[in-house]
Amino acid sequence: MEGKCVFNYQQIIIVLILGSAFLLCQFLSVMGTVHYYDFVLKEINVTKLCANQSILTVNGLFPGPVIRVHKGDTVFVNLTNQGNYGVTIHWHGVKQPRNPWSDGPVFITQCPIKPGSNFTYEVIFSDEEGTLWWHAHSDWTRSTVHGAIVILPEEGTSYPFPEPDGEEIIVLGSWYTGDLNEEVNEDLEEGVDIPHSSGFLINGELGDFANCSRETTYRWSVDYGKTYLLRIVNAVSDDQIFFAVAEHNLTVVGLDAGYVKPFVTSYIMISPGQTMDVLLKANRPLGHYYMASREFLTETANQDHNNGTAIIEYTGDYNFSSSPIFPHQLPQILDMKAALRFTGFIRSLANEDYPVDVPTNITTRMYIAVSMNELCKNRTNCNVTAGPDNILASSMNNISWINPSVDVLQAYYRNMSGYFTADFPDRPLTMYNFTENTEETDLIMTDQGTRVKVLNYNETVEIVFQGTGLLNGAGVHPMHMHGHSFYVVGMGEGNFDNETDPLTYNLVDPPKANTFIVPKYGWLAIRFVASNPGVWFWHCHFDRHLTWGMDTVFIVKNGDTEATSILPPPPNMPICTGGYPEISIKEWKIDNEEQVY
Ligand code: C2O
Ligand code: CU
Repeated sequence: MEGKCVFNYQQIIIVLILGSAFLLCQFLSVMGTVHYYDFVLKEINVTKLCANQSILTVNGLFPGPVIRVHKGDTVFVNLTNQGNYGVTIHWHGVKQPRNPWSDGPVFITQCPIKPGSNFTYEVIFSDEEGTLWWHAHSDWTRSTVHGAIVILPEEGTSYPFPEPDGEEIIVLGSWYTGDLNEEVNEDLEEGVDIPHSSGFLINGELGDFANCSRETTYRWSVDYGKTYLLRIVNAVSDDQIFFAVAEHNLTVVGLDAGYVKPFVTSYIMISPGQTMDVLLKANRPLGHYYMASREFLTETANQDHNNGTAIIEYTGDYNFSSSPIFPHQLPQILDMKAALRFTGFIRSLANEDYPVDVPTNITTRMYIAVSMNELCKNRTNCNVTAGPDNILASSMNNISWINPSVDVLQAYYRNMSGYFTADFPDRPLTMYNFTENTEETDLIMTDQGTRVKVLNYNETVEIVFQGTGLLNGAGVHPMHMHGHSFYVVGMGEGNFDNETDPLTYNLVDPPKANTFIVPKYGWLAIRFVASNPGVWFWHCHFDRHLTWGMDTVFIVKNGDTEATSILPPPPNMPICTGGYPEISIKEWKIDNEEQVY
């Protein structure tokens, strides 16, 4: 059921009363079309890596259903939970102007939707155009509860590149053997390692190089001479991904539902959470070719995965006997240079039709150290590093986020005290040589807190994220912000120098994203305008870092008018009780030197 700009009798009468059918139609088209989707969460049985197991899905699909809209539309998604535990859904990269109520992160903007109950999300699209995705945002359910969102240009307008002949959605995922959500809970209780994935997926399949997977390899057929738009989603839980297609170049045209200056590349590197739009011209000899994904890691442990693969088949008459060609240009797992080289190519389109609007008059500056840490178990014997008395954690500015029992949004909106404090620090509590590997207990130990940063409406913000080497845990962190996109104005190696490094900023055509990596032993500078009143989570998009506390919240206050204030809550927000404990890092302990952070 879609609400188009078509009138029935009643509406015509109203229109006559209002005196102008034209105006009403204008009004409706400004609001966009309204779409309705039904999402039913339920377990299904699947066989992978020669074993049968049950996974939580939406509508029995894996990956889940695709949401298709035009720019500026609104979608109502009625979610019915027929699963076994509480779940929430997030519309990753959809800004949801004034509507944090439907943003989804559990205990940040809502409480879990309990088994047997339902909740209707209102997903409001604004300036996004391209590809985004949706995923569960509670516990570790998102590894199987996710799907793509396609946002076409407004009706009557087109892409800033020649209309492609066809399109293909590529969802990159990771496969976990066993019931991941249950295992994470159990493992945390027992103090053993959180599971690592056992393979990479392309559109839900592991591909030819994994055991018992050849029969189900994902195949996509293309016609010679046509150009296709690939909409690539990185839904992998814990890894950056290299992706390439054998013998074919890729032209990157979009990132996180915004257009970029097109550039040609033989591979991409995509962070978990990011989406990329890429053109592929089917101009190679008729045949079949692998597309492949491989993790990009910054340390040596745990690189025993298979590549995830799928097959592109040209239509037509030819000899199929040889096996598909593999993309040899796919960078090796530890190829940091390849990852950063690719990242450096990304620039906003920045032309008359798609201008950039980088804030230059900054009113709030934040310098945020993102690090691995330890927490003191039971708050005694805290002077031991990596011992049984300590548990592994992660933090921002040395505060390891812990969820409140009532979501931050509700506590803020209803003025309920005791659930969070508004004192997230603008700078690290101590300054040290961030990029050195240090064993200093003072620096390694962190504290838990539910400390948020409050911003005035329309404040212009610059954040410099500083990667750290604490616990030898330097790595990249794909930082993700809800409710806003940001411009990536700078990136560099080592400790940020606030005199010389800003001189290197790109304020002309910086990439705009909702997720971007902080480089290993380096820094990332971003800017945005806090123009969306609400409560907005931001965090590292590696699930393990999120679980360990590399998270915090922005509260953006209301502006002076109703049009710049948070919308009223929907009537059926889930209640914050019911004994569905979320995963807690409290009982975590280190037992594995080879831990991959
Ligand atoms: Cu893709 Cu907080 O999420
Ligand atoms: Cu991280």
